[in-house]
Amino acid sequence: MEKPNTNVSQASRIISEISRDPMGGWFDLPLKFNVQDMARLKITAQKIQANSKYLVCIGIGGSYLGHKAITEALKLNSPTKLLYVGNSLSSRELNKVIAEIGDDDFSVLVISKSGGTLEPAIAFRIFKKKLLEKYGVDGAKQRIYAITDQAKGSLHNEAVANGYTYFAFPENIGGRYSVLSTVGMLPMLVAGVDTVKLLQGARECREKQLAPENLERSALVNYAFTRHKLYTSGAKIEVLASFEPSMMYFNEWWKQLFGESEGKNEGGLFPASVIYTTDLHSLGQYMQEGQRGMLETFIKFVAPENYVDRVVIPQIDESLTIDANGKNKFLTLDDLQIVTGKTMDYANDVAMEATVSAHDRGGITTVTIEMRDDESQELITERSLGFLIYFFEVACAISAKLNGVNPFDQPGVEAYKNEMQRIFRGLPTEEEMEKAKQEALKKSKTAGPKAKKPAQPKEEPKKPATPEKPKDSGVKITA
Ligand code: PA5
Repeated sequence: MEKPNTNVSQASRIISEISRDPMGGWFDLPLKFNVQDMARLKITAQKIQANSKYLVCIGIGGSYLGHKAITEALKLNSPTKLLYVGNSLSSRELNKVIAEIGDDDFSVLVISKSGGTLEPAIAFRIFKKKLLEKYGVDGAKQRIYAITDQAKGSLHNEAVANGYTYFAFPENIGGRYSVLSTVGMLPMLVAGVDTVKLLQGARECREKQLAPENLERSALVNYAFTRHKLYTSGAKIEVLASFEPSMMYFNEWWKQLFGESEGKNEGGLFPASVIYTTDLHSLGQYMQEGQRGMLETFIKFVAPENYVDRVVIPQIDESLTIDANGKNKFLTLDDLQIVTGKTMDYANDVAMEATVSAHDRGGITTVTIEMRDDESQELITERSLGFLIYFFEVACAISAKLNGVNPFDQPGVEAYKNEMQRIFRGLPTEEEMEKAKQEALKKSKTAGPKAKKPAQPKEEPKKPATPEKPKDSGVKITA
């Protein structure tokens, strides 16, 4: 990889800007997570574990992806299983969750900073009804937990009115940067995540990567500047690649982080993701020979000395291959001699090495972030994930600022929401309004001098042209 032209003084100025940003509340979390908040979260998590087989987590975007990323990536052990709804409008998915709960005990955790997002609001209504039917008014109130704005919004008002246990969604933290805050902590504690280790990893990242004396060789800062350099020289896409399937939701979190933070002013690298080696057999061809102008960022987990999941590719003993009569033979013709006796991790590591090398030669810029946690016997640990979360949050904020955009807003997300409101309310589109205005003007002109009252464009149109069927500019195929 070429040197990214990291400008240390620029990096240090941007980092200081991020730390002082009104939406930069996440920046110091690894150092200063409020001890009292954590104690209250732990007590709440224990209560949920004691009385609920399931915790239905309701939220969308930053209000669920972070904690889902962590809980899916780890191997956890908790009496309470997290289930997710309110992150789509699919009744099919909702019904699957209802079916899984069956007659078992459950509680509901609803997370929405604004308190008014449609997808979680609908799911919450449905699960409120279920709680009321099963546990009655008092019981339902005891089993609803809310994380929302501390002063305003419909969810806040309802939480106060009904006396739900509720926690403030920090005002100075946006959804996609919220995983290490109360927002991620409560569900993660319920799921059995070691949040101390998670914060330790984030703190180690902060201390190693952002110490002023380390900035020049900081992998985090170099990564942010590399992205920016590639972007300004024409790259269009960044692909995050992992060789562990349980990192799928981490990829989803990462895509949201970068997509919502950088996709502005018709710019930003498009964030995509793959899980290898699975996707080498689907997208591998495209990665090798498709459109260039891509950055591929690999996350490599190095197995610690005493890794518990080490699987050796076995020799099949001859004694097993002949039946008792010595007649019926079992043949193994798989040509695996070159890996027999080696571990699957060795094969996975070789696959990664080969992929990086092949993609490099195919004209893709590759970056590899290597994680190894020798304090554990696991491959993917809270400590490593905390490090990665913080690494990408800061890198993303720096990179967005290098691109000249605000990493902490998402004005574009409102467009579809406004369209939904318009359709729900049967209002005309802007184009229909404009057309009606032009027609009214035309009529007033052709009516000649006798026309006493020209049409008032402001009041037009009274009736939407086709309220129930919005016009579609795209191609629609109905099968
Ligand atoms: O990152 C973000 O800010 C968004 O993805 C929000 O988390 C998402 O839109 C959900 O918003 P809310 O928490 O207000 O329901």
